[in-house]
Amino acid sequence: MATASPRKLSDMLASKALPHRFLASQLRRPTGRFGRWVMTRALDHGNAALVLATVDALELRRDDTFLDVGFGGGLGLRLAAERTQAPLFGADFSPDVVVAGQRRLRALVASGRLNLLCADVAALPLRDQFVNAICTTNTIYFWPDPERALDALRRVSAPGGRIAFGYSGATKMSNFDGITRHGFRLYEPAQVESLLRDAGLHNIQTRALSGSHSEGDYVTLGVV
Ligand SMILES: C[S@@+](CC[C@H](N)C(=O)[O-])C[C@H]1O[C@@H](n2cnc3c(N)ncnc32)[C@H](O)[C@@H]1O
Repeated sequence: MATASPRKLSDMLASKALPHRFLASQLRRPTGRFGRWVMTRALDHGNAALVLATVDALELRRDDTFLDVGFGGGLGLRLAAERTQAPLFGADFSPDVVVAGQRRLRALVASGRLNLLCADVAALPLRDQFVNAICTTNTIYFWPDPERALDALRRVSAPGGRIAFGYSGATKMSNFDGITRHGFRLYEPAQVESLLRDAGLHNIQTRALSGSHSEGDYVTLGVV
């Protein structure tokens, strides 16, 4: 990968140097040197406001076991580590994201607090009713079978557990049509809420983020 590649997510999305199909596949599953060294960092920087809002929505307590599904650059795990003292889990189906996470989050991994799992959302290698709070940000667009994914999240959630989805709505995402037409599924909040309701979650609520960069971004929370 050329060293002159843009490092910021917004620059990447606007870049003519990086083919849209390549960017779409790196967003779906960061891979190779670009995935490990460029995309993970760009995700943490570009998605910071939404990741923070999604973790905040969980209102973590000190004893909450936490899971971030599709943790990308690992920002959600770092934020959760400041809020809970219980075990932390990150699951991502990209082996390169997990390798990058071992490096980027090495202090947490070395301390024994954080376990990074290479796993698909639909096949999480965790016991039933094991986690109290789940965050998943900018991932739902890539799930081929969201109902199956919701079933898996529900299975690993303890009764009363919270699941928070952070995402950009379909209207905002349509501004990036050149990229999203390569395999993204787009959702408005009503569709995400309906998925959570059909999975049996309750107390479902959506917060719309504000601010020029965050307009069109949402966090939808449900309770198991
Ligand atoms: C666009 S990135 C978002 C990363 C981070 N959550 C953020 O908001 O910055 C999508 C992440 O989800 C992971 N992912 C996509 N589909 C997945 C699946 N079916 N199971 C597990 N991880 C998945 C990708 O490998 C990637 O790390």
